[in-house]
Amino acid sequence: MKVAWVCIWALLGFSGQVLGADPLQSYNVDTSSITVSGLSAGGAMAMQYHVAFSSEIQGAAIYAGLPFACAKGGLTSANLCMYSPTTIVVANLAREINTLAGSNKIDAVSNLSGDKVFVFHGTKDTTVNPTAGHKLEQLYQEFAVVSENEYTIGAVHGFPTDFYGAACGSSSAATHYINNCNYHGAHIGLNYLLGGSLAPPASSAAGRLSEYDQREFGGTAAHSMDPTGYIYVPSGCQDRSRQCKLHIAFHGCQQSKTNLDDIYATKTGFMEVAEANNIIVLFPQAAPNIIAGNPNACWDWWGYLNANFLNKDGAQMKAVHDMMNRVSTCEASTGCNPSVTEPATTPSQGTNPTGNPITTPPTGSTGAPGECHDNDVSFRPFPGDCRYYTLCACGANVLLECASGLYFDPVLGKCNFMQLVPGCD
Ligand SMILES: *[C@@H]1O[C@H](CO)[C@@H](O)[C@H](O)[C@H]1NC(C)=O
Repeated sequence: MKVAWVCIWALLGFSGQVLGADPLQSYNVDTSSITVSGLSAGGAMAMQYHVAFSSEIQGAAIYAGLPFACAKGGLTSANLCMYSPTTIVVANLAREINTLAGSNKIDAVSNLSGDKVFVFHGTKDTTVNPTAGHKLEQLYQEFAVVSENEYTIGAVHGFPTDFYGAACGSSSAATHYINNCNYHGAHIGLNYLLGGSLAPPASSAAGRLSEYDQREFGGTAAHSMDPTGYIYVPSGCQDRSRQCKLHIAFHGCQQSKTNLDDIYATKTGFMEVAEANNIIVLFPQAAPNIIAGNPNACWDWWGYLNANFLNKDGAQMKAVHDMMNRVSTCEASTGCNPSVTEPATTPSQGTNPTGNPITTPPTGSTGAPGECHDNDVSFRPFPGDCRYYTLCACGANVLLECASGLYFDPVLGKCNFMQLVPGCD
């Protein structure tokens, strides 16, 4: 019996622990409509990211967030921004933005002009005083963005939904700082950013939420980031022959994968909005790092990593930017055709999620995966079809399938892009 349990553990856990998640894939993305959002520290990060990469980002939805550079002086100023935001001098922060742009540490501020910004801040928020929301909107307005706000709802500090969470006016760690305010914050924010005619959220997110490897982008403990992030690809975006939009959603403190697994992705409503409107959503993941001074997995908005945290050289900023570039690089080998601009319409469901055992062998397979002895633990190519691979553990071969668009690379021992896997075509 003991041996059997060890084997079940090995089969379930080994794949993820040793291999890491699959590499982030490329899709057919309309790079003229990339938007960002975030809650709280994630809202501060969303504003930082938008302002720093304004030549590439068209809009930001900020929920219970804080202004750019507000906490530049560290934790003391972070506390002032959160609890006494009347002390924030917008003109000083605007000067900071102009200085950074002047030294090319962030994109030219002229790129912000005409961008859309949505600001939500609840009247009952005692974690980040609502004045912080007003101040960040004022700061944005110094750079001629077009903005809309919602400052009248009796919400505590949390992400507003109309289907999940604690009561709107009561804070609850048990419901992960997500509040049912009878207000679909994700839909209202994205609808404003993307022109006002989004379809209502889908009844279910029937596309594919998957994990991806953040490490190749610098997503490491040293940068207070998780090795793994999440990406939601709607049913209509899995076929790369049509363009989809891209949105990047930053979780708040205590909402990272370490804290909540995928709750921020699955319970905020972004995926249902994305499914109905062909928007790919990247959910990059910070991670707690006590030594760095970030026990709560906050995105760096007060400089716990170093003084570059808010500009294009910041480690987290660069990491997310490289992820964005990967997702939006149209690779012809994946069937991506950048010249087709109509949005994708035909939903195509994924069949087997990454790494789930499948019971029927692929048709056209030409051989057996080889002997597997009691003491072996290894991943092996599946002869004749590089979409598949086998895990040999405890004397049994388990057949596994790579995520769609990826192929088993026997050198790396993990799924990889076709052009990087010799002999697979
Ligand atoms: C946007 O920013 C880039 C990078 O700073 C700059 O080269 C470009 O001129 C800006 N474009 C506009 C329209 O301001």
